[in-house]
Amino acid sequence: METQKFSIAPDGVDPKKVPQRTLYTGARIPAIGLGTFGSDRFSGAEVAEAVLGAAAVGYRHFDCASVYGNEHLIGQSFRTLLRGGLKRDELWVTSKLWNDKHGEKDVAPSCEKSLKDLQLEYLDLYLVHWPLPNYHAPGCDVSSRSPDAKPYIHENYMKTWREMEKLIERGLVRHIGTSNMTVPKLKLVLRDARIKPACNEMELHPHFQQPELFRFVWTSGIQPIGFCPIGSPTRPDRDKTETDTVDIQDPVIVRIAKRLGVHPAVVCVKWAVRRGQVPIPFSIYRHEYLSNLQSTVSDPLTEAGMKEIAGIDRNCRLIKGQVFLWKDGQTWEDLWDPSGEITPP
Ligand SMILES: NC(=O)c1ccc[n+]([C@@H]2O[C@H](COP(=O)([O-])OP(=O)(O)OC[C@H]3O[C@@H](n4cnc5c(N)ncnc54)[C@H](OP(=O)(O)O)[C@@H]3O)[C@@H](O)[C@H]2O)c1
Repeated sequence: METQKFSIAPDGVDPKKVPQRTLYTGARIPAIGLGTFGSDRFSGAEVAEAVLGAAAVGYRHFDCASVYGNEHLIGQSFRTLLRGGLKRDELWVTSKLWNDKHGEKDVAPSCEKSLKDLQLEYLDLYLVHWPLPNYHAPGCDVSSRSPDAKPYIHENYMKTWREMEKLIERGLVRHIGTSNMTVPKLKLVLRDARIKPACNEMELHPHFQQPELFRFVWTSGIQPIGFCPIGSPTRPDRDKTETDTVDIQDPVIVRIAKRLGVHPAVVCVKWAVRRGQVPIPFSIYRHEYLSNLQSTVSDPLTEAGMKEIAGIDRNCRLIKGQVFLWKDGQTWEDLWDPSGEITPP
């Protein structure tokens, strides 16, 4: 079979010029990645095609997860890229352990399955996707509950974490990290981990800046990775509530976008990169993912622009996690330890 030589598109961005962040291990992660959650809207094949297209315009960082159901197709894209001459150490690939695989015997097989699907020998980063071990079927309604849902039990999380640590020792993953965490949960993990999380993936966009968690993660030497960086404007209706706001319609974002002659989405990406988190915007459309990448190498936002955007935080969490609640009478806020203490069982 003839292999196609990999090259950067003429209008692409030189990956060497894309900013990078240095982790506490000294490793460097590209300051922007491509999200790969196609949700209900895009097939795995479309997302896998976008991975190929994104690599061709200069992306080197891909945010994957077993629960997205498309790793086996994205793996074919990685194989094409690597056979075409791209080197494995030029790529940054993240995957995530899903909630029904927190059991000590399930962690290594889940990681091995992601590696097999992605056709890779190691992951750059493996995250515990959620701190709660509560399964729900992909695409289910927000009112759906798992009958055996549990609260956060730190002792159990650490059992999972020990298995995550072993993956590093076995060379299957280079870094491990957390996602959807809160300050009190992270404090306990930092107290008890043998290997500290390198990154924490968290929802971050102009209308949801999470200043306290962001600061805590940053000052703990953990790199924040920001999901829904554009405010996930086209997420399924079941994930929307009446009070949700739309970042890309915010007058401040729209005004800055007009001034720069870009789409408001691009302003959100610029804000994220200048603030220091690593955004992972999703798109299968070439003009969108290319403009998101280009935004990291052109016209950074000014200090004044950053200040303006700091002022539009609405504390508007979009991924509320309702399906992970573990008992009747709770509201989604309970998942996020609003009192500053872990919500009691
Ligand atoms: N760790 C976690 O628990 C977690 C949770 C959620 C998401 N994630 C990760 O974060 C990634 C991103 O989140 P997300 O997809 O929900 O939200 P997002 O990246 O904030 O929004 C994606 C949407 O924004 C639009 N868009 C992107 N670039 C654009 C541009 N340059 N101009 C105009 N519109 C643009 C696209 O809409 P159209 O398609 O309509 O053009 C796209 O579908 C996911 O793919 C996934 O990898 C992780």
